[in-house]
Amino acid sequence: MAFPSAWLDELMHKNDIVSVVSEYVELKPKGRKLWACCPLHGEKTPSFSVSPDKQLFYCFGCHAGGTVIQFVMDVERLSFYEAVQQLANRVGMELPNEINDRELQRQRAYKKRLIEANTEAARYYCGVFLDPKTGKDAQLYAAKRGLNAEIVKRFGIGFAPDTWDSLFRHLKEKGYAEKELVDAGLLVHNSERGTVYDAFRGRLIFPILGVNGQVLGFGARVMGDEKPKYINTGDTPVYNKRNNLYGLYLHRNEKLNDLIMVEGYMDVIGLYKAGVTNAVASLGTALTQQQARLLKRFVEKVYIAYDGDAAGQNAMVRGLDILRAEGLEVRVITFPDDLDPDEYVQIYGKEGFDRLKENALSLNAFKLETMAKKYDLTDENGREQYAKAACAFVAGLQPIEQERYYRLIGKKTGYALEALQAQGMRSGGLMPTDPGTTIRGGFRKRIDETEDPREIIERTLLLACLHDGAVIRRIDGDAAEKLFRNATYREMFRAMREQGAAFSVSKYIGELPENEAETASAILHEEDALENADRAAEDCIKRLEQENDAEEILRLQAELKRPDLTAEERNAVLKEITSRIRANK
Ligand code: UTP
Ligand code: MN
Repeated sequence: MAFPSAWLDELMHKNDIVSVVSEYVELKPKGRKLWACCPLHGEKTPSFSVSPDKQLFYCFGCHAGGTVIQFVMDVERLSFYEAVQQLANRVGMELPNEINDRELQRQRAYKKRLIEANTEAARYYCGVFLDPKTGKDAQLYAAKRGLNAEIVKRFGIGFAPDTWDSLFRHLKEKGYAEKELVDAGLLVHNSERGTVYDAFRGRLIFPILGVNGQVLGFGARVMGDEKPKYINTGDTPVYNKRNNLYGLYLHRNEKLNDLIMVEGYMDVIGLYKAGVTNAVASLGTALTQQQARLLKRFVEKVYIAYDGDAAGQNAMVRGLDILRAEGLEVRVITFPDDLDPDEYVQIYGKEGFDRLKENALSLNAFKLETMAKKYDLTDENGREQYAKAACAFVAGLQPIEQERYYRLIGKKTGYALEALQAQGMRSGGLMPTDPGTTIRGGFRKRIDETEDPREIIERTLLLACLHDGAVIRRIDGDAAEKLFRNATYREMFRAMREQGAAFSVSKYIGELPENEAETASAILHEEDALENADRAAEDCIKRLEQENDAEEILRLQAELKRPDLTAEERNAVLKEITSRIRANK
């Protein structure tokens, strides 16, 4: 939801960035800024800076940057909404929609109540498990599955006794109402008889925690072969499986290189026990966009490691594109012999798993493998069909990547590299390119590493605009289209122009999507390089116009060489070139 601008202003005013950041690191003044070792990435020398005047932060090491809201999002791994909520809490402001809204206040209190009931239930189930009398069977089953005391504690594993009302009686005593417990999914309501009973009975309990560590729901496994194997909390006011990942909360205060996506509870736990502690589970459902976004808050790279059976492999194909679309780098781990990650790691240990991880397939290699399964490669006809389809796919990839994949196809089909490349050329790369190649997150790295001279000029011009509103007004919309070839810069400029005289740097950055906010604050922190915004802008505009002109001349020169040009057309092109060249003199 969008917050009223005046309310956000007040929030940011009350949450001074220096005081908020100081709750995490000790800031030391140097120059106009305050410095510290970055709380967002591990480092020994301080490259994290806060500008009290501008109320912005920027880290020269990891390139994170933005307003106090972005800081809280990054450091606490929260969504924009959650970060705003936390900051509002910090200074005792009510959320704008709740100020006069009794209903919303009531809902929020109710959710809190349901989470408390869940927490109490989790505690109860643990107690039953640990009690030598009531937990004997469960302890035996857990031991059989290799779950030791440490793992049981870490994942809060419990046991629901095989009775109809043990939990109900326990929670009633604690003061919870029947309706609350039904709403939380802890009790089931039988509408025919008008009775209620415990939702989980005679099952091993896996509490499901949200990213912030609250108990949102449960998974419950039978300890034998009965069906269904698992019962899970359905949709409740506090839990929706589409928005959550099992096991992610364990990492909320960690800096991770990558995460491993698996299907089930026992995969996360089995891997953890073997020493692979960074797995999270989508809990058997197809991966959702919300889950992909959640992952993106933690890491840039995700290994997807679904079960080796056909269902797992199919779910994987769908999940991959969702992850790529969110800008995540994706690798695929496949398990032999229909094994699932838990089984695999029990047989081959962490070393075996690490080896699979090292040899994980890129998204494209995995797609080629999946494609190959549709053809009979023992048959010449099948090999030919596969080679054609695969070459068309490879021709749509980045040129640098192509050779590697043509080789892979060659290995599978026996065709020579040249033949495959020629085949790919014929299909002309007409295959739609992978949507994931236009990744959102890519920009952050390019900004400081770019060597494209044009991009540097465009960036300097944008910097000049950010510094001096007068510069913005000198460039009209049409001109901007031609000056900013970089789409992000162009979009940022458009946003600045729209705000006109009301333009304020920190407000502007506060309203940007996270990614662009980082870019904008990175640019702003290059301010020392800019002595005079107006003059710099003038130079940049001149340079960019020259660049555009030079490009146009190159294009016209190529045109002139076309063999099919009529005398008339040739003359027209010539005239155009000469007039341009002369104008530059
Ligand atoms: P699996 O059948 O692969 O289970 O289902 P698992 O996690 O490997 O568990 P074990 O090793 O047999 O104990 C993967 C996931 O799909 C969901 C669960 O989230 C499970 O972890 N699932 C499966 C259900 O919700 N209900 C079911 O009946 C089965
Ligand atoms: Mn399993």
